[in-house]
Amino acid sequence: MTAAIIDGKAFAAGVRGRVAEQVGRLQADHGITPGLAVVLVGEDPASQVYVRSKGKQTVEVGMKSVEHRLDADTSEADLLALVQELNADPTIHGILVQLPLPDHLNEDLVINAIDPAKDVDGFHISNVGLLGTGQKSMVPCTPLGCLMMLREHHGSLSGLDAVVVGRSNIVGKPMAQLLLGDSCTVTIAHSRTKDLPEVVRRADIVVAAVGRPRMVPGDWIKPGATVIDVGINRVDAGEGKTRLVGDVDFDSAVEVAGAITPVPGGVGPMTIACLLANTLTACCRANGLPEPEGLTA
Ligand code: GUN
Repeated sequence: MTAAIIDGKAFAAGVRGRVAEQVGRLQADHGITPGLAVVLVGEDPASQVYVRSKGKQTVEVGMKSVEHRLDADTSEADLLALVQELNADPTIHGILVQLPLPDHLNEDLVINAIDPAKDVDGFHISNVGLLGTGQKSMVPCTPLGCLMMLREHHGSLSGLDAVVVGRSNIVGKPMAQLLLGDSCTVTIAHSRTKDLPEVVRRADIVVAAVGRPRMVPGDWIKPGATVIDVGINRVDAGEGKTRLVGDVDFDSAVEVAGAITPVPGGVGPMTIACLLANTLTACCRANGLPEPEGLTA
């Protein structure tokens, strides 16, 4: 059997289209434009690429985009003052502080200074707690994108066995909470899990988010399972070139799985699409309007 390929690039384009349509309606009916502020401290090249891409896509869906680029030696007090300024700005509905921050800045302190209602990353401790208790929250973008693709592929996830490989605060833990919210039986596996291959083989849904290139081979996958590969790893491709691979060994897994996300072109494009969806959701909530349909958890 060869798996169906879940096309994240096309799916993300669809999400952006729905966001753009609803942004247009917000403007026409209420004169409101959602605004997203992105804060980048320092000059990490990968972060600069992300931030540029976020700004471009924000504008493309008709939202206001604000970028604050601060020097690498910016003090914590100055960064916190900027966050407070954005918290108080009624034209800004979403705030994203790009991580990682330089070592002298306390990430937890900075993230928890963001107004939870504007925390479109879903990293604030209040949003983590709300998600964990099944209450309305802002949901981290990458797991939200994975959930949307899973719902689209399966319809109901109720009763399915899901294994999340990886226990990060950004992906693994919120992913597990979302799957639990959709009534999956959820296992979080990690580097110390005993007999990881056997644990993964039980799963109807495998979400791999460990950051280790091609760690999950096809013979760990239950025939027909759905595989969501969150990994984006740059590896040597010979002749001085590099290429991106996931945490799953695609070539062997595609022969066993029922459906699988490729890398690139799977989960990756969904992350920014969900950031835009979260900004729209935050804007609707801030204005007491109904939440956008199909764009929340
Ligand atoms: N750095 C890499 N990915 C992300 C993300 O999703 N949010 C933030 N704030 N920083 C990141």
